[in-house]
Amino acid sequence: MGGATGGGRPQVAVAVVDSDQAIRSRLAMQLGQGATPFPSINDLAPRLSGQPVVIVLGPAFSSGAELSAVEQLLTARREVGAIMATNELTTDLLQKALRAGVKDVLQLPVESTALAEAVARVANTLAVAPAATSSSSPALQADGELGRVITVFSTKGGAGKSVIATNLAVVLAQRSSKPVVLIDADLQFGDIAVMLKLSPQHTIVDAVSALDRLDAQLLQSLLIEHGPSKLKVLPAPLEPAFADQIGAAEMVRIVEVLRSFCSFVVVDTPAYFNDVVLGLIEVSDDVLLVAGMDIPNIKNVKIGLQTLRLLNTPMEKLRLILNRANSKVKLDVGEVERTLGVTAEALIPSDVVVPQAVNKGEAVVLNAPKAGVSKSIEQLTDLFLPAKKKK
Ligand SMILES: Nc1ncnc2c1ncn2[C@@H]1O[C@H](COP(=O)(O)OP(=O)(O)OP(=O)(O)O)[C@@H](O)[C@H]1O
Ligand SMILES: [Mg+2]
Repeated sequence: MGGATGGGRPQVAVAVVDSDQAIRSRLAMQLGQGATPFPSINDLAPRLSGQPVVIVLGPAFSSGAELSAVEQLLTARREVGAIMATNELTTDLLQKALRAGVKDVLQLPVESTALAEAVARVANTLAVAPAATSSSSPALQADGELGRVITVFSTKGGAGKSVIATNLAVVLAQRSSKPVVLIDADLQFGDIAVMLKLSPQHTIVDAVSALDRLDAQLLQSLLIEHGPSKLKVLPAPLEPAFADQIGAAEMVRIVEVLRSFCSFVVVDTPAYFNDVVLGLIEVSDDVLLVAGMDIPNIKNVKIGLQTLRLLNTPMEKLRLILNRANSKVKLDVGEVERTLGVTAEALIPSDVVVPQAVNKGEAVVLNAPKAGVSKSIEQLTDLFLPAKKKK
């Protein structure tokens, strides 16, 4: 177990929960190797096995949001306890946290020893669920780091989502030592399989049919490999009518299983908000918002951004990608950024090699690696996994 629980203190697993990846990783690091980071309570809950776990809630919980989920979990599971770390400790927050069943609230920055002591104090009070005492399974069924979920979205059809999702996933797969999966969540009209010249035996529909016994092994058997890059693909249903069978909960469950053994889960989406897309956006670590460089595109993306704000999507996870961003289109990047109020993190030029590659069923990054568009996708990939880290 980690440093937080050593020295004769009770053996307990520690889960760090915060929607901000940097923050939860930092806290987990401070707690030592027994601590596992999770983006939300919903991500953590399915991994609890009945053995004692102390949850460290990050500053994302200070707003009071999600505290009801915490309360529910703590009421339902007597073997789970929680403490909270906050940037600003107010009596109001303390009261709310205690009412939700949180045992202690610490002010950040906190010394590692103080944090470990708070965890140990809670660990001492935890009950062991009867079913778990004889079990030898780990308290948290995670091998440490969960894969990063990147959803590619746009509120405009034809903006370049599928091209960007596919090529980003291909480059990630080439760079990563662990598996990378691309999910085609454009359930009605998904064309990832065509874009990569794959003839799928299985699709998302099969994963959903097997949902109650879905695990990493089963899911792995449903994925089809793109030979040149070793990218694994979970294709969209073969017929649009099957899309109805797939809801947000099913899709999120699939993503959760995938991220347990993959370094990255890239998700391509349709050009509109539906339950599935909203569910995916919620579980994603990053949402790449793709905008084409014309006025209708920018207008739609602006509306999309407003919708995401209304839905309380943390703006930190949004990354604006401008596609077809050449000087020729006479729309200035700075102007677009000002209109949208977001800075673009990647500019992808327009190039005829893109439709050429698409029509051949090849990834443009492999088909035309020297083209500017391929270079810009490599740079986009650097945001997630720099090329030098290749192992
Ligand atoms: N940077 C680019 N340069 C040239 N053509 C591009 C570029 N990006 C995308 N395209 C072309 O635009 C078309 C639409 O791209 P893509 O299928 O990726 O869009 P999409 O957002 O997934 O569309 P849909 O909403 O229909 O799923 C494709 O035929 C592709 O070849
Ligand atoms: Mg598409």
